[in-house]
Amino acid sequence: MSQPIIELHHVEKNYSSVPRKGLFARKENKPTVNALTDINLRIWPGEIFVIVGLSGSGKSTLLRTLNALITPTSGEVRFQGQALGSLSAAQMIALRREKTGMVFQSFALFDERNVLDNVAFGLEVAGVAREVRHQRAREMLAKVGLSHVEDNYPAELSGGMQQRVGLARALVVDPAVLLMDEAFSALDPIIRREMQTLLLSLQEAEQRTIVFVTHDMEEALRLGNRIAIMEAGKLIQVGPPEKIINAPATPYVRHLFSGVDTSRWQLADSYADVWQPQA
Ligand SMILES: Nc1ncnc2c1ncn2[C@@H]1O[C@H](COP(=O)(O)OP(=O)(O)O)[C@@H](O)[C@H]1O
Ligand SMILES: [Mg+2]
Repeated sequence: MSQPIIELHHVEKNYSSVPRKGLFARKENKPTVNALTDINLRIWPGEIFVIVGLSGSGKSTLLRTLNALITPTSGEVRFQGQALGSLSAAQMIALRREKTGMVFQSFALFDERNVLDNVAFGLEVAGVAREVRHQRAREMLAKVGLSHVEDNYPAELSGGMQQRVGLARALVVDPAVLLMDEAFSALDPIIRREMQTLLLSLQEAEQRTIVFVTHDMEEALRLGNRIAIMEAGKLIQVGPPEKIINAPATPYVRHLFSGVDTSRWQLADSYADVWQPQA
């Protein structure tokens, strides 16, 4: 069996909360927020691993520990077998620029760069020659269906198109892991579905490890090979969609997919024995 590409061991993250003006002026009075509590997790190469939970449950914090944008208060994150805490400065830069790509809810494109140069950005900072990086950027734009707008600027594009640029920009360096934080949450439902379809078709063409954060269970069920449920900084349940549906670990898990059509996954034989209908 292959090795996990990412492993978390007893990861904790506490924030000493930002003082509001005047209120918590004395440092020792600042309350601490436990954003992550004892997270243990393995993510496998080629899977779409979805992290679901309500707002404030710690999803973004968890995602950002994976490329060391956030350093855990304690515990260890291993990426391709290497502890992130032991990386040199150069290795840390390589992790963020080459081994991982990130897509944000807010798109976070460069307004003053055209589409082609937005997509080519990661290669530019890696020192790739202009012709080569433009060639690679054009290939990525073709894959996301945006070849016709390479000279346009982000402000001239719809939200869905801007996020396709965001996706192409993240993928241009061919990262081992793609990190997506509520990447489709700002889009209209139809466009959002189109983006999910695009992501699944890209994944079918070329398997990549994707860690996808969402608060939407329907999206999680559609995209995830496995789903991790977070509640108040804790990992409540991790498993494939049919397991989550047929054997929800807690009422909170069940609550997350209330109103979602789960008929596609219901009562797979292998889980029928552990599933208990609520009285
Ligand atoms: N920089 C920060 N300083 C203080 N508290 C933070 C910070 N970032 C997040 N938090 C808190 O940590 C918890 C988890 O936040 P977050 O990871 O953003 O959750 P989610 O992405 O699921 O909405 C929340 O209570 C949030 O208010
Ligand atoms: Mg978040």
